[in-house]
Amino acid sequence: MFKYTRKAVTFTTILGVGGLGLYFATGRDARASAQKYALGPAVRAVLDGEQAHKFTIEVFKYPNLAPRIPADWDQTHDPEKALEVTLFQHSANKKVKPLTLQNPVGIAAGFDKNGEAIDTLYNLGFSWVEIGSITPLPQPGNPKPRVFRLERDNAVINRYGFNSDGHIAVVARLKMRESELPSNATNFAGLPNRVLGVNLGKNKTGDEVQDYIKGVDTFGPHADVLIVNVSSPNTPGLRDLQSEEKLTNLLQTLVARRDSLPLESLPPIVVKIAPDLTSPEIESIAAAVKASKVDGVIVSNTTVQRPKTLRSGSELTTQVGGLSGAPVKPYSIQALKTLRKELGKDVTIIGCGGISDGADALEFARAGADFVQLYTSLVYKGPGVAAEVKEGIIDGLNGKKWTDVVGTDL
Ligand SMILES: Cc1cc2nc3c(=O)[nH]c(=O)nc-3n(C[C@H](O)[C@H](O)[C@H](O)COP(=O)(O)O)c2cc1C
Repeated sequence: MFKYTRKAVTFTTILGVGGLGLYFATGRDARASAQKYALGPAVRAVLDGEQAHKFTIEVFKYPNLAPRIPADWDQTHDPEKALEVTLFQHSANKKVKPLTLQNPVGIAAGFDKNGEAIDTLYNLGFSWVEIGSITPLPQPGNPKPRVFRLERDNAVINRYGFNSDGHIAVVARLKMRESELPSNATNFAGLPNRVLGVNLGKNKTGDEVQDYIKGVDTFGPHADVLIVNVSSPNTPGLRDLQSEEKLTNLLQTLVARRDSLPLESLPPIVVKIAPDLTSPEIESIAAAVKASKVDGVIVSNTTVQRPKTLRSGSELTTQVGGLSGAPVKPYSIQALKTLRKELGKDVTIIGCGGISDGADALEFARAGADFVQLYTSLVYKGPGVAAEVKEGIIDGLNGKKWTDVVGTDL
C-alpha cells in the first residue's frame, strides 16, 4: 500500500510538474521529442504495463486534449500519394467494395479494446483503426498482473485474456460516435480514405461459432471491416479454430451471415492468424481462406515462442502469454511469405508484428503485405510512431510507390 502511494506521489509530481510543463511547451504535436524522450519514459518508470495502457486510453479519449500530428501531414509529406493503397479489390461478393486508404499504416487490435480512443488514433496518422477484440458478453479477462514490458527487447508479453466491455456497451459507444459524424461521411471513420475495423473475439466459455456470428450481426452495420480473431493465445482452445476444417466452417458461416445483412455495401471479413504455424498449417489456412472466400488475412497476432535472442530477465521472459514487438517480426515475416505464396496476389494480406519504423514496414511490404499494423512500438516510441513509420516508408521508397514494392521479395 505504502509502495503504491509513494509511486502515485512520484507519478503525480513527474507528470504534474515536469510532464505537463513539457507537454504544453511542445504543444500537442505527437512528433515532439518531449513526448518520446520525457513523457513516455516517465510514464513507464512509474506505471506498470496495464496502468500505463489505461492512463493512455484515458488521455486518448479526449481528441481535443490528446496528442496529434498536423491534419495536413499526409498532403505535405506525400503530395504524390505514394502511400495510398486500395485493399479488397478482388472480393468475391460485389457488395464488398474496395477500400482506398490514405496510407498503409494501421493501429492493431488490443490497444483500443473498447472503442474509446478512435478519433485520437486517426489524429495520430493511422489510416486503419482497429478496435477490440470485443466479446459478446462483458468479461474481466485474466487476473492481474497480465501485461509485462520487456524493455530490453522492445517487446511486451500480455495475457489479458479478452477483457472486454462486451457487444452492447461497445456498439452503443459506436452509435453515439456515428451520430456525431459529418452527414456526408462515407465510412465509419468519418474521414476520407480511413477505415474503422472491429475485431471480434469470443467469451472464455462462449460458443466457438455463435459468438462470432453475434459479432457479425452486431458490428456488421457499424464497421468498415470485420476481423475474426482466432489467434489470441490467452483464450483456451481459441487457436484450435485455425485447423482447416474448423476454420473453413467458421469462415464460411460468417461470410454467409455477412452476405445476408440488409446493407447496401458489406464490410470485408478478415481473419487474424498466429505466427506460430508450420508451413503445412499455413497451407491449410490458405485452403480455408480460398474455400470460404473470406476477403483478407492479418499476419499476425502475438507469438507463444520465446526466442533465445531475448535479452530481458527470465522473470519476464517466462511469463505466460503472447509476446509482441521486435522479437515477433521474423516469425510474422516467415508466415506472411508462406501465406502470400499460397494465396497469390488477389487476397488482401495485412502484415503485423514488430513494426517500429519505415524499414520494418517495407520489409513486410516486400514479403507480400498490402498494408501493415503496429501496436507494441506505440508503447516504446509514443504517439508519434505512425508519422515516423510513414516518413521512413517515404524515404525508403526512393520515389517509388508503396504498391510498387508489395511482394517484390518473394
Ligand atoms: C497488450 C496487447 C493486447 C492485445 N490484444 C489483442 C486483442 O485483443 N485482439 C487481437 O487480435 N490482438 C491483440 N493483440 C495483438 C496485436 O494486435 C498484434 O497482432 C501483435 O501485438 C503484434 O504486433 P506488434 O508487435 O506491433 O504489437 C494484443 C497485443 C498486445 C501487446
